[in-house]
Amino acid sequence: MTTALPTPGTGAPAGSDATPRDLPATDDHMPAAASTGHDAGPRHPAMPSSDGDTVPNPGDGAADAAVESGAGEASVERDRPVAATAVSEPEPPAAPQSLPGEPGEWRGAVLVTGTDTGVGKTIATAAIAAAAQGAGLRVAVIKPGQTGTATGDPADAEVIARLAGPDTVRTLASFPDPLAPLAAARVAGLEPIELYSVVDEIRAEADKHDLVLIEGAGGLLVPMGLRPSGEPWTVADLAVTLDAKAVVVARAGLGTLNHTALTLEALDRRGVPARIVIGSWPAAPELVHWTNLTDLVPHLAGAIPDGAGAIDPGVFRRSASGWLTPTLYGVLDDWRTWAEEL
Ligand SMILES: Nc1ncnc2c1ncn2[C@@H]1O[C@H](COP(=O)(O)OP(=O)(O)OP(=O)(O)O)[C@@H](O)[C@H]1O
Ligand SMILES: [Mg+2]
Repeated sequence: MTTALPTPGTGAPAGSDATPRDLPATDDHMPAAASTGHDAGPRHPAMPSSDGDTVPNPGDGAADAAVESGAGEASVERDRPVAATAVSEPEPPAAPQSLPGEPGEWRGAVLVTGTDTGVGKTIATAAIAAAAQGAGLRVAVIKPGQTGTATGDPADAEVIARLAGPDTVRTLASFPDPLAPLAAARVAGLEPIELYSVVDEIRAEADKHDLVLIEGAGGLLVPMGLRPSGEPWTVADLAVTLDAKAVVVARAGLGTLNHTALTLEALDRRGVPARIVIGSWPAAPELVHWTNLTDLVPHLAGAIPDGAGAIDPGVFRRSASGWLTPTLYGVLDDWRTWAEEL
């Protein structure tokens, strides 16, 4: 496998030598990858079951599709060369790579940005907040700039409060038009958001909480407001100033590898450690979703199932840990098993 995605912390491309395909499963209580298959027992001890009281894991819908297409067999015998014509046999994702910045380090300020607007940052933020709260952390969520308040859509903070119920949810500035925050301030004749006022607010919340999730607006380099010097600032600047880590919420479908690589590269050159969460994993994944998953796995820390934003908040909170890896307070610690149980 080759990929243009940079390896976190190095900026180097993760080539075939760097893929985790041959790494052992990282958790003793997970079944070894080679011994897993359709009848390989429970998915994960702490995964929610699909008994109507919880939401299936992202793999569940995929499971049906892949079983129908015979992909399970290919998964079990992963070392067998895949025939060029076997388009219905997607390559199984490999086990997670061992990367710096694992559990315990994702505390304090964590920026949730995305490869674009509308990629599922709000739902992913809610899921991370719910999982972290479930792990016993005190969690705050901050939305520095909410735009589009005149559209009648619920504000992101409202959605997160309803779904996850973190200890604190705050919106620092709101603007009526659905534009980037700096442009929205300009057209409304309102004061643009000032970088250091946001930094101060977040630091104050970090003193009172274990984890402060900061949901950006749109993607990483969207102009958020103005510095005291009059220069525009972005959430990338915010992450650097706060020494924060970043979660990049990405789409599952075609185009995501380029958008994700661009975003990871921009974070890497600023020295911001980052992980990816897929914002909306389809119930019936196609080949492109599986190949994208394979390429994103070295950086992946979660995948939120499509439809998660519409479910009952109690079910959302019970299910969230099953969508995220331990880095983000979840229990999804073996992508290989996740995919091979198809
Ligand atoms: N996993 C999901 N389940 C259900 N709906 C989703 C999911 N992910 C995203 N959506 C829906 O897709 C739309 C865009 O998602 P969302 O508002 O979370 O994007 P965003 O990245 O937060 O955008 P913004 O830049 O405006 O903050 C919303 O209508 C949301 O409800
Ligand atoms: Mg949002």
